[in-house]
Amino acid sequence: MKTRHRVAPPVRTAFVHAGLACALVAALTACERKATAEPVAAPAAVQPAAAPRVAHPSAVLPRPAKFVPGQGAFAFGPQTVVTVAADQPGARRVGEFFAQRVQALRGFAPKLQDNSGETKGAVELALDPKLPIGEEAYVLDIGRDGAKISARSEAGLFYGAVSLWQLATADGGQGATVIAAQRIEDAPAYRWRGLMLDVARHFRSVDEVKAVLDQMASLKLNTFHWHLTDDQGWRVEIKKYPRLAEVGGCRVRAGANGRDARGQPVPYCGYYTQEQIRDVVAYAAARHINVVPEIEMPGHAQAAIAAYPQLGVGDVLKQAPKVSSDWGVHTYLFNPEDQTFAVLTDILDEVVALFPSKYIHIGGDEAAKDQWQASPRVQAKIKSLGLKDEAALQSWFVGRIGQHLEKHGRTLVGWDEILEGGALPASATVMSWRGDAGALEAARKGHDVILAPDRKLYLDYAQSERDDEPSGRFPVSTLRAFYDFQMTPPGMDAQQAQRVIGAQGNLWVEHKRTFELVQLALHPRLDALAEVVWSPAQGRDWNDFQRRLVPQLARYQALKTPYSDAAYAVDVRAEPDAAGARVTLSSQTGFGEIRYRTDGGEPDASSPVYTQPVQAPLPLDVVATTFFDGHALSAPGRYRAQTAADLSERGSARLKACREGYNLRLEDDAARDGSLGDNGTRAALTVNLIDPCWIYPAAKLDGVATLRATVGQVPYNFQLWHDTDKIVTRKAEPDAALEVRLNDCKSAPIARLALKPALASDGLTVLEAPLPKLSGTHDLCFVFASGRHDPLWALDRVSLRTAP
Ligand code: ACM
Repeated sequence: MKTRHRVAPPVRTAFVHAGLACALVAALTACERKATAEPVAAPAAVQPAAAPRVAHPSAVLPRPAKFVPGQGAFAFGPQTVVTVAADQPGARRVGEFFAQRVQALRGFAPKLQDNSGETKGAVELALDPKLPIGEEAYVLDIGRDGAKISARSEAGLFYGAVSLWQLATADGGQGATVIAAQRIEDAPAYRWRGLMLDVARHFRSVDEVKAVLDQMASLKLNTFHWHLTDDQGWRVEIKKYPRLAEVGGCRVRAGANGRDARGQPVPYCGYYTQEQIRDVVAYAAARHINVVPEIEMPGHAQAAIAAYPQLGVGDVLKQAPKVSSDWGVHTYLFNPEDQTFAVLTDILDEVVALFPSKYIHIGGDEAAKDQWQASPRVQAKIKSLGLKDEAALQSWFVGRIGQHLEKHGRTLVGWDEILEGGALPASATVMSWRGDAGALEAARKGHDVILAPDRKLYLDYAQSERDDEPSGRFPVSTLRAFYDFQMTPPGMDAQQAQRVIGAQGNLWVEHKRTFELVQLALHPRLDALAEVVWSPAQGRDWNDFQRRLVPQLARYQALKTPYSDAAYAVDVRAEPDAAGARVTLSSQTGFGEIRYRTDGGEPDASSPVYTQPVQAPLPLDVVATTFFDGHALSAPGRYRAQTAADLSERGSARLKACREGYNLRLEDDAARDGSLGDNGTRAALTVNLIDPCWIYPAAKLDGVATLRATVGQVPYNFQLWHDTDKIVTRKAEPDAALEVRLNDCKSAPIARLALKPALASDGLTVLEAPLPKLSGTHDLCFVFASGRHDPLWALDRVSLRTAP
């Protein structure tokens, strides 16, 4: 059995305090960090304790454009004051923000004071509109006698304060600290440094959105793209059309949690009142973040049409749709009638009044044209407008909306489908998500471009193939892949590259039900992206980034911000051998050192360092963590095995999918024990939506007598549009079973594990069945023969058992 926790690892208080004490005196004297001796079961060299150090001199993330180390250090503590000119309210606002952020981590708030008096030992915030630097640029000078941040604008001053805050909190500790003397000259590489958060599929509270804004601010990200409407929910109050939020903001959840004990539907609802929207917009503005609302059209409109069916394609709608509880591509489009434009422009008038953003996002993606094709009225409209086809109609639709936004002095942004149909207004900005093609075409045609390509910058993809990876999409999208993102797509020339105004990470949340899952998806990949869009491309250095990420992760730990440790979590692989087991430890990045214990205790910074495979007796209880410079970068990863048979266990993430595409890690809709509601821990199961089929490669079958499988059932709430025809369903003959096949998934089953015991449970069920006597090493293939695709049966784990 393997259990790990995927939230920020708990800070081991004694260790952190020892480190902090060292940090305080290290500028003056050498400081030994005491290594507490732990009993260790396996032989390995114990490394000397990490060298003491002051806060890392370059621990600013994203990496500043220029950094010059200085002499000595600045003592930063409760005595430190922040000085601002009396006639600079902008500087005062930045000072207040800085003090509040210092308070949140170090536990004291520097006092603000007028800059006319004594400034020795102070942090001076100086706004000078004549400074010959960029709009968002700043200079941060830290010496023995104090620190000074200079900027031309309040935004620049703010970013300087963020850098100083990072330097002042690099150890993640409390109380006074020292900051190495240095000079930073910094300015962003791109002006659109963004994050998109989908709140339609799963709603997030105002406080949660504000927490995300705080995290963006600390990464110098400046654009929050708020995906407010979709097929599964309309999340913004529109006064003139109240049903949009009241009806369109509620759906019935798919699966076991969609009904209560009496079988009554349980609604899942949420929207932001206009007052809440204004509050969020102001909160973001105070952090120099622009909020760009997205109102989807003409597709992703099912929730709006559920609220106001007259907006839909009336001559093909048999009845008003419900707000969808499915994921995927839906076919409900707005109709292109004048009355619908009247409603949409009314909606946009209210949106424009709520959001001061120059940019308004109107979606435009995945507008499956089936209903427009089937509608005689829409076809007549296409004809009367002299248009070629439905793509041209969408282009006309977008152009008409663009004209309306222009009247308000706003710029239309849309997903790259808005290029189709050929009539996009020149002023429109294109958000390129389907690879690089949209970016290349838009730049060639003279549109501004924002890069947000699927897979590369989508934050809903899984970060590892580990057993404890939370729900998400496959293939894996790693921290390294985010860090390596190239801002100039191949094939774009230097002049076209000028059209790229920035990039953003997109977090779709179909599979991110909770805020914790949102946080784990964001960090630290968003941190890597922040560096891509802020820092000069020249000088990008993966290891340098990782070294600066160490204090960033310590900060997240101190702030209790969950982050994914997929890049550093220790993979434990154990094979049977003469001594019991041969244990191999590794991590995704190989950064830092792996420390481990084999007595079940959690390793600390003085535990043995892993250098080569370790032999250990059974029962096995290995716990391993990656450390860098004394900081734990991953949660302790535990691997337990009682017997050799336990070593054969594979979770579904470690089994191979039988086909590419549509591989997902799905969260069960009930807790592991079958209980409903939102509290229990739920399994995440790796499954293919088209053909649920898994391969256990190279299974060692000598002496194996039975197969044990843990299975679950999840609702199949997906709309795959035209791919629906490809779904493979296997007949339940004679009854529903998990079938085991040898070598080839098309061969006859060698065993059938009846699903009957699992039918009644919404959680996980352990099944066991004998296998015929087999020998050697073979691939095993697993498929469910249940006669239906909903619920979708999924494997949680399998193991091969020997005769008792
Ligand atoms: C998108 O991912 N449909 C923009």
